[in-house]
Amino acid sequence: MILAPSLLACDFGRFADEARRAAKAGADWLHLDIMDGHFVQELSFGPEFVRVIRSVTRIPFDVHLMCARPEVFIESLARAGANLMTVHVELGDRVGPLLWKIRSLGKLVGLAVSPPTAVSQVVPYLNQIDLLLIMTVNPGSGGEPFIQEMLPKIQQAAIWRHERSLNYHIEVDGGIDCATAAACARAGADVFVSGTALFGQRHLKRALEKMRRAVTAGAPPLATHATAAR
Ligand code: DX5
Ligand code: ZN
Repeated sequence: MILAPSLLACDFGRFADEARRAAKAGADWLHLDIMDGHFVQELSFGPEFVRVIRSVTRIPFDVHLMCARPEVFIESLARAGANLMTVHVELGDRVGPLLWKIRSLGKLVGLAVSPPTAVSQVVPYLNQIDLLLIMTVNPGSGGEPFIQEMLPKIQQAAIWRHERSLNYHIEVDGGIDCATAAACARAGADVFVSGTALFGQRHLKRALEKMRRAVTAGAPPLATHATAAR
């Protein structure tokens, strides 16, 4: 299980301290949302910001590119300290070259699918990725309610992983708190991004421990993942 607090929900006046706080509290990864004002309406931060945060912590950076032209940022994000970069399947025939580019830079490769998009769109790429991100809210902002209807997508992703003997992570992002994390774990997810429900807590360490317990209680024993999803 990997818990990845999303920095989008932190105190923006204290980015570096917040990144350190998450690492010290026991987060496994830090989730960094790059929003370009085109793919989604909002703007967040870019490679220079990632570089600054990298200088204060060694925690793995899980970088989620909600960008219409991720190719513009991938190399600078790699240099800035990203460990994993995720692009959206909605970019169509540019997805293949983007995944290849991320891999060629020696980084882990992620592919995301937004709520309105059929999960079957990711099938051609399954054997090229390290992580499949099932968005559980429409991308663009934090604090949105979890969309229950995404649970079958997680189950499907777990079935494909089992049937094809692949080992990509299944990540969920959007509206993740203890209850929804447990439901996602039951469906087969193993990476949990959470902004508001974690950074909103004064005691981040306690909040992470609580979420870890909820996920453990929700998750079926490993061997039964695929059967449970059917
Ligand atoms: C949403 C972003 C998320 C966001 C999640 O578009 O991709 O990473 O920070 O925030 P919460 O957990 O508040 O829904
Ligand atoms: Zn995200």
